[in-house]
Amino acid sequence: MEICASVEDIRSVVAGYKRAGESVGLVTTMGALHEGHLTLMRRARADHDRVVATIFVNPTQFGEVADLAHYPSDDARDIDLLKGEGVDALFLPEVAVIYPPGDETIVETTELANKLHGKVRPGHFRGVATVVARLFNICLPDAAYFGEKDYQQLQVIRRMVRDLHFPLAIVGVPTVREPDGLAMSSRNVRLTEADRAAAVVLNRSLSEAERLVAGGTTVEALGDAIRAVIRSEPRATLRAVDIVAAETLTPVSGPVTGKIAIMLSAEFGSVLLIDQREIAP
Ligand code: PAF
Repeated sequence: MEICASVEDIRSVVAGYKRAGESVGLVTTMGALHEGHLTLMRRARADHDRVVATIFVNPTQFGEVADLAHYPSDDARDIDLLKGEGVDALFLPEVAVIYPPGDETIVETTELANKLHGKVRPGHFRGVATVVARLFNICLPDAAYFGEKDYQQLQVIRRMVRDLHFPLAIVGVPTVREPDGLAMSSRNVRLTEADRAAAVVLNRSLSEAERLVAGGTTVEALGDAIRAVIRSEPRATLRAVDIVAAETLTPVSGPVTGKIAIMLSAEFGSVLLIDQREIAP
């Protein structure tokens, strides 16, 4: 696996692939790789001749400096995992490479970035769009792979690519789950055994939502049912149940007649977990 720290080096590696007529799939990460990331790599591997990964802990998407300081990082372990997946090249830049001195350019999807999760974390999705735009321009892939678990992030990136005419495909990859249904996340390791067992309630509430939509229901009844399932688990502190139109994330009400997205967040001890599902009636 080629490991590149500079824009020039990764560009020259990718240019070599392109000269040989090979297609390139990109997976952007902030490291601390888990099975969810590796699934994205495998999907990119299945679709393309070459897979490029990036590891960059992006400071502009963290509101709190403390959050950034505590972000787990183990490059040696991540590099071994990427090699194990047969990733061809890794871009591992320093902050000053991505944000050169005097940098002043931002990318923002003004509507999508500032609702729902974006309201709670102001500037977060602007930071994501800004770094992802840079990584796309540096790595020039044919397609990039993102987990559906970070549903709002995926919609922000799709919108940015569409609006700015980036010449690449965005592929959303379904959430990878533990055998009991808990969505995989780097945060799961911080759950106590009891909270880990309790956290499956998120997936259970989404399955109940699917059942209700299949039988015909309203957005209001659906919200009540999801809240009731999560509140039946005493270890869960519910933070948000958002039911919105899929892709646009606009508010919906009344009978469920079109494709919706349900976005959940709840705390288990001090660990905030999210989960989501797109459901079509
Ligand atoms: O999902 C992530 O890990 C990050 O938000 C991303 C897309 C790599 C941008 O820093």
